[in-house]
Amino acid sequence: MIQYFDPKKDKTRDLGTPEKKSEVQVSIQIDGVKVTVAQGTSVMRAAALVDINIPKLCASDNLEPFGSCRLCAVSIEGMRGMPASCTTPVREGMKVETQNNDLAKLRRNIMELYISDHPLDCLTCPANGDCELQDMAGTVGLREVRYGFDGENHLDAPTDDSNPYFSFDASKCIVCSRCVRACEEVQGTFALTVDGRGFDSKISAGQAEKFIDSDCVSCGACVQACPTSTLMEKSVIDQGQPDHSIVTTCAYCGVGCSFRADMKGDKVLRMVPDKNGQANQGHSCVKGRFAFGYATHQDRITSPMIRDSIDQPWQKVSWEEALAFAANRLKSIQLHHGRDSVGAITSSRCTNEETYLVQKLVRAAFGNNNVDTCARVCHSPTGYGLKATLNESAGTQTFDSVMAADVIFVIGANPTDAHPVFGSLLKKRLRQGAKLIVADPRSIDLVDGPHVKAQHHLKLRPGTNVALLNALAHVIVSEGLEDKDFIASRCDDKAFQQWHTHISDTRHAPENTADITGVDAQELRLAARLYATSGNGAIYYGLGVTEHSQGSSSVMAIANLAMVTGNIGREGVGVNPLRGQNNVQGSCDMGSFPHELPGYRHVSDNETRSLFEQEWQVTLDHEPGLRIPNMFESAIHGNFKGLYCQGEDIAQSDPNTQHVQKALTSMECIIVQDIFLNETAKYAHVFLPGSSFMEKNGTFTNAERRISRVRKLMPALADKEDWQVTISLAKALGYEMNYEHPSEIMDEIARLTPSFHGVSYDRLEELGSIQWPCNEKTPLGTPIMHTEDFVGKAGTFAITEYIATPEKVNKRFPLLLTTGRILSQYNVGAQTRRTDNQVWHGEDKFEIHPTDAQDRGINDGDWVGIASRAGTTALRAKISERMQPGVVYTTFHHPMSGANVVTTDNSDWATNCPEYKVTAVEATKVSEPSQWQADYQHFSNRQQRFLEQASKS
Ligand code: SF4
Ligand code: SF4
Ligand code: SF4
Ligand code: FES
Repeated sequence: MIQYFDPKKDKTRDLGTPEKKSEVQVSIQIDGVKVTVAQGTSVMRAAALVDINIPKLCASDNLEPFGSCRLCAVSIEGMRGMPASCTTPVREGMKVETQNNDLAKLRRNIMELYISDHPLDCLTCPANGDCELQDMAGTVGLREVRYGFDGENHLDAPTDDSNPYFSFDASKCIVCSRCVRACEEVQGTFALTVDGRGFDSKISAGQAEKFIDSDCVSCGACVQACPTSTLMEKSVIDQGQPDHSIVTTCAYCGVGCSFRADMKGDKVLRMVPDKNGQANQGHSCVKGRFAFGYATHQDRITSPMIRDSIDQPWQKVSWEEALAFAANRLKSIQLHHGRDSVGAITSSRCTNEETYLVQKLVRAAFGNNNVDTCARVCHSPTGYGLKATLNESAGTQTFDSVMAADVIFVIGANPTDAHPVFGSLLKKRLRQGAKLIVADPRSIDLVDGPHVKAQHHLKLRPGTNVALLNALAHVIVSEGLEDKDFIASRCDDKAFQQWHTHISDTRHAPENTADITGVDAQELRLAARLYATSGNGAIYYGLGVTEHSQGSSSVMAIANLAMVTGNIGREGVGVNPLRGQNNVQGSCDMGSFPHELPGYRHVSDNETRSLFEQEWQVTLDHEPGLRIPNMFESAIHGNFKGLYCQGEDIAQSDPNTQHVQKALTSMECIIVQDIFLNETAKYAHVFLPGSSFMEKNGTFTNAERRISRVRKLMPALADKEDWQVTISLAKALGYEMNYEHPSEIMDEIARLTPSFHGVSYDRLEELGSIQWPCNEKTPLGTPIMHTEDFVGKAGTFAITEYIATPEKVNKRFPLLLTTGRILSQYNVGAQTRRTDNQVWHGEDKFEIHPTDAQDRGINDGDWVGIASRAGTTALRAKISERMQPGVVYTTFHHPMSGANVVTTDNSDWATNCPEYKVTAVEATKVSEPSQWQADYQHFSNRQQRFLEQASKS
């Protein structure tokens, strides 16, 4: 097993009750050993800290103590009876005894009662060897059960197998309530209850429902908490206990959860959220925890393939042949159409090292800067907007910082679906009393959920974020709520004065923007006051901010809000972009944009370029290259002919699908490197099999700028890891890259990038993870940015004039369509559609307000044709009060849905990030799929046949 963390900081040992923080320290004696701990600490935890392990069943250090099992009883001098050590806080001078005859007898009696109502099938139980009940029976020395097993018991209680990933065997339940508390305290879903009392008490999902029918979101926290095999992963029930474990990082969303992969040989049995994980602290969501089966799915392609045209079947070839074919085609294209006729797209799903190599390949081997990344279509406005205001293209905080926030402003983000582990942390803070403002066209779960309610839901019209943000700033400035000291000491005065004049204008007053945003002026004023006057104010935003024609303006307006209220540079505040994919931050950091080398340095900067030229031994182009939309345009005009696309599915994920299809069919050589024949690969001439995150070493950088190790769990199914494939392609093109291990790539990144100077694999092993900047000044990384000063120069207020999107509703297209994600699926769905997560979301639905549905004669479940200026598709209707009249919504996880057939070419003025969130559409009841869907089905089936023919050859 890899030693990945300082054992002194290792949190994997369960200390029984949560850590308490206090200035006051208390000293007590336990079995004659003196221990000093913070006031409020339990006797159980104090004992565990000096390696005295008191027996326990209902306690766990990620849950508040409950005191139900009584197994942890101790004797305390001067106290009557035998109090439970988990619920008894330390008191100065306390003398505790954890072992004596009376305690031993009591504990044996308790265990005897438990065991008399428990199946005696330890040898065949899936938890054998990993069961706390079994351990405790041994610990207390239970040798016999005097009551026999014939009395009233629960041994016939049924098993609920409805969840695809875990089973609930009620006959083994000891009603310790750890699962109930985990669901409440850790996950915040409140899906479980203890029904009944005394002997009749039992655990129940929802209203005595099956798990699958309840509110359970399958996060796995209850499974993790269960001390017996009552709640257990089906994979372990089927295949037995693991034989070793390796710690790695989730490859789904930008939270970047750390997991312990429990393995049996080369096979992953289960993913257990890592308590040492600094982003997730032992919690997970259904995707990272359970939806990993795609990595070994039968659809994986493990042989390189080539073909002359997309009208031909695939031909399986050796790696050498495929790479030579690809390189010759690219060289020939450049010979005939010029150096700039080829380019590449990097992936935010791949590692930093892989992404770095792809941009290096483009700049050094293709000889141009035609490299872009899928971050173009999600968070490129974040990079632009935060750089322009805060001088650094990244979020300012740790996730943990939210626990110090007094007011939380969530705009254009849906954390409980898209960033679920952070969503749970946020809900925890709300339950502790922090206030919440939500700005979203839709009523997301946070607006009104179990024990969570937004003080203000600003249900704005899609496309009006800038008007709303300006109005909030206007209230703050016009009511004198700004933080004058912060502005004077930290921000550029000239820029502030200009902005102040601009924002003070009454055109930004909420009364004057209400017609634009649809948000009541008084409600907005109250929200602005709440954000500005409640103490620590933290802003969290997502793609609902960036994916607009004014995405960059919105990001700058958010930064303005944070600066004008002084909410930057300490715990509990800040500007926090919630990045979509696992490595969006990293792919941007690694120089994936056509105008920037790694570390966000412009390609026209001579000093930076010469640094890279020296290291890479080539001359670099000083002109920015093509962005993805420019590549498509250029392809349609016959100038851009060759594309290397690693781990990205532009045919499904990019807007205006028909335009993308036209661009793809215009090219002569498309090289797709992926684990599946994704939608883009159906247009490809070369297929290079990719490796999943389980098959390689590397690093991901999450939304907190946290760099975490990805560790190889099993050999690459296609023999090569992704970084090795890029090296081979470079070599085939005549450019040598020499690395034996991804750590050497990271060493090069660190040499060339100031904010990464201190990063290395050794340092990552030592610290667990690192938040950049990490260099000579900040060798341990930087959890909170801008604590003393903004990097480089003063904070810069930006003028953010609201300009309405060109996408307008009219009689023909009277509804506004906005898009988003759902918890169980991930992005284009290529991974999650190949898992049992399908049971929760087997198709994308079209959400429509009851009034709009009624006007159109649409009933729940009807097929609805959705037409926009770009195209037409059809989806099944879901009538939903979450929507506001005039606004409709869908997810985009299934290719057949064609959500992007209707989205348009409109994009952010600064970065070309597509305006996915605003499309004018009309919806009508239909009886068959759209023409596009019929054509897609035909094309897709044909390509699938070509793949099957290759498999047989
Ligand atoms: S299911 Fe497990 S955690 Fe929940 S009460 Fe039963 S034994 Fe305890
Ligand atoms: S899996 Fe998560 S949401 Fe479902 S019951 Fe368990 S803790 Fe609650
Ligand atoms: S998908 Fe995101 S929240 Fe879920 S386990 Fe993975 S990193 Fe964590
Ligand atoms: S562990 Fe303390 S009462 Fe159960």
